[in-house]
Formats: sequence, structure tokens, C-alpha cells
Amino acid sequence: KSVVKVAILGLGTVGSGVAKLLLENNQNINQKIDNEVKLVKVLDKDLTREREVDIPAEMMTDNPEDILSNPEIDVVVETIGGVGPAKELVTEALEVKKNVVTANKEMVAKYGSELLELSDENGVDFYFEASVGGGIPIIRSLKESLTANRIQEVMGIVNGTTNYILTKMIQEGAKFEDVLAEAQQKGYAEPDPTADIEGYDAAYKLSILSAIAFGSPVDVDDIHLEGISDIKQEDITYAKELGYVIKLLAIGKEADGEIEVRVHPTMIPNEHPLAAVNNVFNAVFVKGHAVGELMYYGRGAGSMPTGSAIVADVMDIARNINYRANNRISCSCYEDKDIKPMFD
Ligand code: NDP
Ligand code: HSE
Repeated sequence: KSVVKVAILGLGTVGSGVAKLLLENNQNINQKIDNEVKLVKVLDKDLTREREVDIPAEMMTDNPEDILSNPEIDVVVETIGGVGPAKELVTEALEVKKNVVTANKEMVAKYGSELLELSDENGVDFYFEASVGGGIPIIRSLKESLTANRIQEVMGIVNGTTNYILTKMIQEGAKFEDVLAEAQQKGYAEPDPTADIEGYDAAYKLSILSAIAFGSPVDVDDIHLEGISDIKQEDITYAKELGYVIKLLAIGKEADGEIEVRVHPTMIPNEHPLAAVNNVFNAVFVKGHAVGELMYYGRGAGSMPTGSAIVADVMDIARNINYRANNRISCSCYEDKDIKPMFD
């Protein structure tokens, strides 16, 4: 079996989940593909910190060039987050013909088209399933399973941290700051949790979902945005008295060529399915003209659920590498590897 070598950039919450899966579930993963994926290098700033996962010391580095200049590495998993330096590293990885998988919704929302174009030019893959909905396979579903549809609506709860905070405020009367600290401790929140509580994270995800669902780019700045930082316990109690819960919703709709995109707290009747989506869980409703209504539900954040989505992307890339090699597909990524394309 040929070996597809994988490196991780950033060993935090998500990077650790990816490493854990690749190291501890390796046999099971490799039974499902014709080649073999193998974690070979992990980049982080701090090489001394205690981790959730045991990484052999020789696998760790704090120098990105150990990964980007290593011709043997086929797949780079970016789990640093934010735009800088993640975008420069991802750009360099694609330019040297490495496949890239990322969970970085800010980078994908702002620069996804540019990075996809770069991956095309270099004959490699750029995958980002984990950027929306944590472990929920929503991007693959929209791109593949629902591709025969005109998608009319994508909407739902797409931020685990704010849903966790609202759930605890509603069910336990907990204080906003206390629950935010809990969400941070559990690894759900962004490094700067303002992105969660002010709705930017949900807006990045809505921008990605809408671009795929409606087939045209959606600028994050065009999304009407309101977070949950102004929600008080009185608002929650008042909503409860009326038979409602408050949830942060991301809503994307297409009608007559117009796309409407907004993120804001919403009062949802207790009987509505979204009212039962609690804690770190996310749920996305999709309405397609042929399929009708669908709902996707699962853990929207956390180390292992997000790791699950990333490793599935890595496995897909391994299959693509195998397919291209066996079918001698004309592809610039093989120019240097003495493989003759069948069709020029
Ligand atoms: P973390 O902060 O836990 O992890 C990021 C890691 O990258 C940290 O170990 C950090 O080190 C390291 N790092 C930062 N800068 C550099 C650098 N220049 N070189 C090397 N390492 C660096 O973040 P998460 O794992 O939570 O999130 C990572 C990405 O995944 C983000 O894009 C996030 O939006 C996305 N995501 C997160 C989910 C979650 O549940 N947490 C779910 C889905 C997506 P240090 O801590 O020392 O800065
Ligand atoms: N901070 C994000 C959330 C991580 O809470 O949903 C998952 O994208």
C-alpha cells in the first residue's frame, strides 16, 4: 500500500482531535482506503505544553518549513485558526502542491474562492468540511448528495458556544460570563470568543453554506449580524413565559435570484425542532426544490467531532491521490513525479 503522509499545523483543540484519530484509529481508517494515511509531522508554537494526545517528540516541530519544504508530505491539515499566519501557510502549501484540509471558517469565508482556485491551478485538493457544523457532514451533503436540487433555504444553529451559553441560561439560569468560561474550558469557543458571541463565527459559516447552496459568493460584510452579548436573563425569562426559547440563528434564503442572509437571536416556539437543539449541538435545515426539507443535527464543536470531519476529508484526499495515480489523470501535481498523463 502506498502511504499518504499527513502533517498538522496547530496542535490545539481541533489539531489534537485530528492527531488522536490518526494515531489511535489508524487501523480502522486504513482498512477503508486502498492506500494508507500516516501522520508524520505536527507544527505548534509551544513544544513543551501537555497535550490530550501523545505525539512522539521527533514528530513535533515549531518550524513550518519542516512541513512545507518536505516533498514527502502530501496533505497539510491547518488547525491554527484566523487569517494570519494560517492563510500564508495554506497558500504556500498549495503552491508547493500539497493538498490542504482546514477547519478555519474565517479563512474559508474570506479567501475560499482564491484558495480553491490556487488548489485547482496546482492540481491538488482544498477541503473544509469541518469549517461548518463541527462533525455534521453538511458541506459534503450540499455539494454532493443534494447537487440535483435548487437550494431555496439553509438555516439553523451553527455556533456551539452560543448555543451552549443560551442553553445553560435558559435551563439553569446560569450567568453569561460563567457559561462562556465553561465553553472556553471545553474547547468550543474560538481563541477570541468575541467571534462566537458577536455572531461573526456564525456569519462566516453562513457565508460558506450560502456560497455552496446558492452557487454564488456571499460576502461576510453583506450578512446582517447581531450576536448574543445583549441577551439578558430577563429576555430569556420573558420568552419562557410566552412559550419560546431564544436561539442564535443563521438564515440564508434564495428567492427570485435574490439571496437574503442574516444572523441574529430569534424567539423559537417550544414545539419547534430547533428549540430542542441544546448545548454544543448544531442543527441545519436545508430546503431543496426536489428533496424538500432536511435537517442535519450533531455536535457543532469540540476536539473529536471536528477531528472526525477533518480526517474524513483527509481520507477522501487519499482516495483521490490513489485514483489519480491509478488512472494516470493529467494533473500538474504529477509533473515532477515521472508519471505520464493519459490525456494531454
Ligand atoms: P486552538 O487555539 O485550540 O488551537 C490552535 C493551535 O495552533 C494552538 O495550539 C496554537 O498555539 C497554535 N498556533 C497558533 N499560532 C501558531 C503558529 N503561528 N504556528 C504554530 N502553531 C500555532 O484553536 P482550535 O483548535 O479551537 O481551533 C482551530 C481552528 O479550528 C480554528 O480555525 C477554529 O475556528 C476551527 N474550529 C474549531 C472548532 C472547535 O471546536 N474548537 C470546531 C470547528 C472548527 P497557542 O495556543 O500557543 O497560540
Ligand atoms: N467556536 C465554534 C463554535 C467552533 O462554538 O461553534 C466550531 O466551529
